[in-house]
Amino acid sequence: MKILIINGPNLNLLGSREPEIYGSSTFEDYFSSLQFKFRDVELSHFQSNHEGKIIDELHQAQDNFDGIILNAAAYTHTSVAIADAVKAIQIPVVEVHISNTSAREKFRHHSYIAPNAKGVIAGFGLKSYELAILSFLDLPEKDA
Ligand code: DQA
Repeated sequence: MKILIINGPNLNLLGSREPEIYGSSTFEDYFSSLQFKFRDVELSHFQSNHEGKIIDELHQAQDNFDGIILNAAAYTHTSVAIADAVKAIQIPVVEVHISNTSAREKFRHHSYIAPNAKGVIAGFGLKSYELAILSFLDLPEKDA
């Protein structure tokens, strides 16, 4: 299983950006812990502050990955172009947010991406990414 995590604008500043909302870990450190935790999953990570680069990455990913975890950050609330790219590609995209966007400012409540995503995970801090990886895996059923 090959999964690509795509992070949008300002997420390169995780660790120092509004730590009361986004935590104090860098994404690089968190990503290393994810790789350690999910040793059977081939995880890759791409970050860009540019809308077009995120779209290019989404297009290219469909030939190389089984699924995408996308935190489009502020573009979630503004970008029809990224939403169209998510719709256009053939592999599943799970939308992720570190914060609970529904509990924040009104302009963060709407996602252009969500209707074209497989699902949305928000509000669990960096753990949202971990939960998104789990959503791609076949977990054993728990006995009733
Ligand atoms: C975010 C939420 C967005 O509203 C915000 O613009 C971000 C990060 C999150 O992960 O909580 O940059 O996507």
